[in-house]
Amino acid sequence: PRRVRVHHLRQAKERGERLTMLTAYDAVTARIFDEAGIDMLLVGDSIGDNMHAHPSTIPVTVDDMIPAVRAVARTARRALVVADLPFGSYEASPAQCLATAVRMLKEAGAHAVKFEGGEHLAEHVRLLTRSGIPVIGHLGFTPQAENILGGKRVQGRGNEAADRLVGDALALADAGAVAVVLEMVPAPLAARVTEVLPVPTIGIGAGSEVDGQVLVWTDMAGMTDWSPRFARRFGEVGRELSAAAGAYAQAVRERTFPSADHAYES
Ligand code: KIV
Ligand code: NA
Repeated sequence: PRRVRVHHLRQAKERGERLTMLTAYDAVTARIFDEAGIDMLLVGDSIGDNMHAHPSTIPVTVDDMIPAVRAVARTARRALVVADLPFGSYEASPAQCLATAVRMLKEAGAHAVKFEGGEHLAEHVRLLTRSGIPVIGHLGFTPQAENILGGKRVQGRGNEAADRLVGDALALADAGAVAVVLEMVPAPLAARVTEVLPVPTIGIGAGSEVDGQVLVWTDMAGMTDWSPRFARRFGEVGRELSAAAGAYAQAVRERTFPSADHAYES
C-alpha cells in the first residue's frame, strides 16, 4: 500500500474526502488498524490514562512515548504515524519542541508530531516545519491543560472564545501546521474553522462538518464500561475479549485444553 503523506491530507480536504484517525499504542492494534485502512495512527499521550493507568495525560513522559511510537511506526505500512508530544516536553521554547520532535522521528520513526496549543506556539510550528517535521495542531479542549480549563469541558462557546479559537487555528496553519485537531468544540464553530482553514480539521467531539475524525481506539471498540458522549462504540471488543479469556480458563480447568493436537509427541 502507498504511504499516506502530508500532501494527501490537503488533497483529501480539496476533494471533500473524509480522513480517518485512531489512536494506537502498540504493534497489535497498529497492524489491525493499518490493514483496516485507517489513514493516520496517533500515538496519543492518551496512552497515560488508557494504557498506563494514570489519572490523566499529564504524567506521561517522552520515555513513555518512544517505545509505543516505535512499535506503531515499525508496524504501520500505509498509515501516517503521528506522535503526541507529552506535557512539559515542548512548551518552553521552539528549540525544546524541536529537540523532542526530533527524538520522535529519529528514535521512534514517527512521520509527524502533534502538540496542544494555539497562536503562542506558532513559532514552534514554524521551526519544526522548516526543519522538516510535519506538525498537527490541537485546539479546543486540550487535556494537558485540564487544570486551567477547569476539567473536561466544551471550549469555544461564546463569540469571544470562538473568535480566539479561529485565530489560533489560522495562526497554526499559517506557521505550517498540516492539520488541526479540534476537541470538544461546538459543531458550528468546528464547521466555521473547517471553512476558513486551508488544511484539514480533524474532529473529536466537534460534530460532522470537519475534514476528518479521530477517536481513542478503546472508546471506538468498546473496551471500557464508560466512554465519552462524543464517542460511539463500533464494537464490543472488551466483552469479546473477556469471553475468550473466560473460555480459556474454563477449558484449562476442565482439562479440555490443551488437547492432543496442541501437544508435542516424544
Ligand atoms: O492523545 C490523544 O488520544 C489525542 C486525541 C484524542 C486527539 O490527542
Ligand atoms: Na493527546
